[in-house]
Amino acid sequence: MNAVRNDLNVSPSTLAFLDRPKHLLIGGRWMPAASGKTFAVIDPATGREVCQVAEGDKEDIDRAVTAARCAFESGPWPTMTPAERGKLIWRIGDLILGHLEELAEIESLDNGKPLRVARVADVPLAADMFHYMAGWATKRHGATLPISVLYTPGVQYHSYTRPEPVGVVGQIIPWNFPLLMAAWKLAPALTTGCTVVLKVAEETPLSGLRLGEILQEAGLPDGVVNIITGFGETAGAALVAHRDVDKIAFTGSTEVGKLIVKAAAHDLKRVSLELGGKSPNIILKDADLDVAIPGAANAIFFNHGQCCSAGSRLYADASVYDKVVAGVAEQAKKIKLGHGLDPDTQMGPMVSEIQRNRVRGYLEAGEREGARAVTGGKAREGAGYFVEPTVLVDTTPDMQVIREEIFGPVVAAIPFKTLDDELIRQANATVYGLAAGIWTRDLSRAHSLAAKLKAGTVWVNCYNIFDSALPFGGYKQSGWGREMGDAVLDNYTETKAVTIRL
Ligand code: NAI
Ligand code: MG
Repeated sequence: MNAVRNDLNVSPSTLAFLDRPKHLLIGGRWMPAASGKTFAVIDPATGREVCQVAEGDKEDIDRAVTAARCAFESGPWPTMTPAERGKLIWRIGDLILGHLEELAEIESLDNGKPLRVARVADVPLAADMFHYMAGWATKRHGATLPISVLYTPGVQYHSYTRPEPVGVVGQIIPWNFPLLMAAWKLAPALTTGCTVVLKVAEETPLSGLRLGEILQEAGLPDGVVNIITGFGETAGAALVAHRDVDKIAFTGSTEVGKLIVKAAAHDLKRVSLELGGKSPNIILKDADLDVAIPGAANAIFFNHGQCCSAGSRLYADASVYDKVVAGVAEQAKKIKLGHGLDPDTQMGPMVSEIQRNRVRGYLEAGEREGARAVTGGKAREGAGYFVEPTVLVDTTPDMQVIREEIFGPVVAAIPFKTLDDELIRQANATVYGLAAGIWTRDLSRAHSLAAKLKAGTVWVNCYNIFDSALPFGGYKQSGWGREMGDAVLDNYTETKAVTIRL
């Protein structure tokens, strides 16, 4: 293991972090799993073990929920003023920026993404989410409501609403943007005054643990955020089943989203879900292809296609289709695969062997069903979990590669001739509804298409544009509720109506 460490071209602070024990954060204390078990963190570019982390399970979830309940009901958190809470959340954002290089290295090593991407996207966006949400701590308010109460004539009332924190929140996050997903979840929960048990993804537990240390450094009271590393079927399921958890916020597969909804039925705990996608990215014949082609390549290849919003179905007007396919394929061929920590790398490995095999399974299914790879088409054998950036053509709407989320660097290009009938019908012919892209110079057409697409986000002449102020979430089986913006605050709020007879 030391040999692995010595090979790593990372800063001394990252090495020091890797050498610290990787325990669970419960009630302000770092502790091993109750079972004493640990599991390996794997560098997906080499398949080698980086370190071990605690394998939390039901007993640890019980302890963490007790700590979160205690912090919610008593202690400094519930009596802290909104201004104090806001300043604390702001400080978390500052500390994330203060540790930018270390967090980016940890993220790259754990997830496989290029270090330079983690530096400019994952870490600063995570910090921004805390900075943005800090402001809401002092700006959420209820209303005074003029009421009439028809059946008590002559009586006057004073009525108002109070936005109140929903309580103890269980948050379960995936591995594609580990730190950023933790920020998307934690920041709004904290600003509304909730307490949290966060279950990070088993593939990428490291940045969540480093964030736990940062939360302590920022002065977050004990038990307000508890962090559990462990597996979905055990620790994750225990969190969802726990009767003292008021709400589950989940990001991950639609399959697990459905399991969570079923499990939450027994006590009707609140649930918000940010799930999969199969997003259409549409190039009209009047689009500026010099912008649209690299845009379409970025829409699918960013983060190795491991984005819920990935533009995985590329619809191009038949008159520009050949040019678009050739252009995107050329972009794909130029992408340099390698270790995330290598400064020349443009695309790293898939996050895990399982994910590499899953993507390979889709590539094989595509081939069997008659799709053709213009470029790429293969998952590499060997130690790292690499998949070639792939452009598929000759697909039909019933193929698995068109219907299902691949979550890899694989785009299917599809020509269309008429806008309304053919294109809109096909674009919306999916169980998902997370995002969509439109490339055109015709603004009025862009607006009318944007209105017809059944998706929570529509990007025009751009793609994968995220901002803490923009609500993000899905129609249909892409989820329930929205992340970010003021919309996410609803996920963590109960509205109380108070009426006083005067
Ligand atoms: P997953 O949905 O199984 O995992 C996401 C999180 O849920 C992890 O923290 C995991 O531990 C937890 N989890 C798993 N089973 C659980 C259960 N029964 N109860 C509670 N928590 C549970 O996703 P996975 O297996 O990593 O990836 C499978 C596919 O899901 C991907 O190929 C992709 O299509 C999709 N996915 C979508 C994401 C998104 O951002 N919407 C993120 C990750 C995966
Ligand atoms: Mg899974």
